[in-house]
Amino acid sequence: MAETVLITGGTGLIGRRLTELLLERGYRVAYLSRGPASYPNVKVFQWDISKGYVDKQALDNMDYLIHLAGAGIADGRWTEDRKKIILSSRTESIQLLARKMAEQGVKPKVFVSSSAIGYYGADTGDVQQTETSPPGNDFMAEVTVKWEAAADAVKALGVRTVKIRTGVVLSGEGGALPQIAAPARWAVGAPLGSGKQWVSWIHVDDICRMYLEALEHPDWEGVYNGVAPSPVTNEQLTRQICDVLGKPQWAPHVPAFALRLVFGEMAAVVLGSSYVKNERIRHSAFRYLYPGLQAALVDLLPKQ
Ligand SMILES: NC(=O)c1ccc[n+]([C@@H]2O[C@H](COP(=O)([O-])OP(=O)(O)OC[C@H]3O[C@@H](n4cnc5c(N)ncnc54)[C@H](OP(=O)(O)O)[C@@H]3O)[C@@H](O)[C@H]2O)c1
Repeated sequence: MAETVLITGGTGLIGRRLTELLLERGYRVAYLSRGPASYPNVKVFQWDISKGYVDKQALDNMDYLIHLAGAGIADGRWTEDRKKIILSSRTESIQLLARKMAEQGVKPKVFVSSSAIGYYGADTGDVQQTETSPPGNDFMAEVTVKWEAAADAVKALGVRTVKIRTGVVLSGEGGALPQIAAPARWAVGAPLGSGKQWVSWIHVDDICRMYLEALEHPDWEGVYNGVAPSPVTNEQLTRQICDVLGKPQWAPHVPAFALRLVFGEMAAVVLGSSYVKNERIRHSAFRYLYPGLQAALVDLLPKQ
């Protein structure tokens, strides 16, 4: 009988593509969601983290558990209230799952939790970060440290646990790429700030394939940097997007102060430099579909 993968936040950018790949491989997919929406070929169960509620059947019937739930990092200015939601949606959610699993006496074969390269800090200049590099000390680094520590509550139940420190996911369906590409389509694509900041990107299909690899390969355990082999600078990213779209890149850089004015502390997400190496993936059997940016962009950016 087909095995069931239960995904929290499966309705999001990564979850939707991951669902397609899992269904193609013959898995059953179920979501733990805050909403009642229905999705083809997916069983949707409800949870309410603040009320400590998880539909019992969701956990009773899972073979694997993937945790993608989390309030959007770039969905609003980082007010104190927003910061609390960003943190609690990632940490209290896992603690709740661990508690319910213990109560119900069930556990998955594997628990794969998303994490983020924000662990190392939003701006680490040209310093190359590997999985053993120390955490940063800004807001997202603090969130990520607590997020990964929360995942250990499931590990403590004796479950093989994998944490994927995800880079900037490039997808045609949402996330960073359509926003960066929009001005380029109007021939006003411009690097942000100095443009020299490193962007550690990954094609959405490759990040989803890493989740599959983590499910299916019992030797995967602990932390992995979910990034492509070669980070690029923000300027290179902008130029390559313009090239692939066949648009000129002449517009001046968007000044850092203007971005800070509009986005506040959140501007660190685009102005910070983060060069993250795929050290553990490089030494695994995983093979990228899109190791280079050019091919990834050609795949993702629809021609007009
Ligand atoms: N995309 C990237 O570039 C990137 C980079 C680094 C790390 N990550 C991390 O990877 C995970 C998945 O990324 P994604 O891009 O697929 O995220 P996404 O599109 O924002 O989806 C996340 C899902 O989390 C659930 N969610 C939203 N707010 C929530 C809240 N307040 N409490 C509980 N659940 C909530 C929603 O599912 P329901 O509405 O069904 O509940 C949503 O569909 C996230 O934790 C994200 O931070 C993503």
